[in-house]
Amino acid sequence: MPALPHARVPAAVVRPLRAAILRPDRPFAESVYTHDDDPDTLHVALMRDGAAVGSVTAMRQPIPEQDDRSQWRLRGVTLSSELRGGGYGKMLIMVGIGYAARRGGSLLWFYSSEYAIPIYLHLGFAIRADLSFIDPASPNPLMWRPLTPEDRLLGDPALDDAGF
Ligand SMILES: CC(C)(COP(=O)(O)OP(=O)(O)OC[C@H]1O[C@@H](n2cnc3c(N)ncnc32)[C@H](O)[C@@H]1OP(=O)(O)O)[C@@H](O)C(=O)NCCC(=O)NCCS
Repeated sequence: MPALPHARVPAAVVRPLRAAILRPDRPFAESVYTHDDDPDTLHVALMRDGAAVGSVTAMRQPIPEQDDRSQWRLRGVTLSSELRGGGYGKMLIMVGIGYAARRGGSLLWFYSSEYAIPIYLHLGFAIRADLSFIDPASPNPLMWRPLTPEDRLLGDPALDDAGF
């Protein structure tokens, strides 16, 4: 497995990868997320030959129907298929966890892809089925875990200041 660099990037750098991996049959506009351009939203890309081959986004956003600005959402967790299984995905997820924790986040949530549910369960996230808006039959469950003080040590604090 090559050691690929990762960097904090503007949203535009990660959108093509999101579109290719997460929404290949959908309009590109669906890969432009609300809050993408908020000042404290983090986008980190794994880079190869000048293009993103992995990505993670962490944004301040409450769980629907809740009004708690300490809740953070993970979005756009993607990795090119040939790079999967080697730890890059975990590294990107840890980057999101650490950043949200250092920003004072109380919990991290997201809608999982069907594919990634076992990976997130392995990494300590749980499926929430207790919220009124949740469709229990959905293949994309809402997953979450609380953020702890120890989580502030995760990821890459060097990326915390945008620098662009
Ligand atoms: C989700 C994704 C980024 C994860 O990256 P990855 O390279 O496959 O995952 P990693 O190799 O980093 O593995 C992460 C951890 O999950 C574990 N894991 C992987 N597959 C697993 C499975 N089926 N069951 C349980 N644990 C699993 C790994 O062992 C690793 O844990 P460890 O370091 O403690 O051993 C990547 O698979 C991907 O892009 N998938 C397609 C897009 C997608 O579904 N994204 C999620 C949107 S919510």
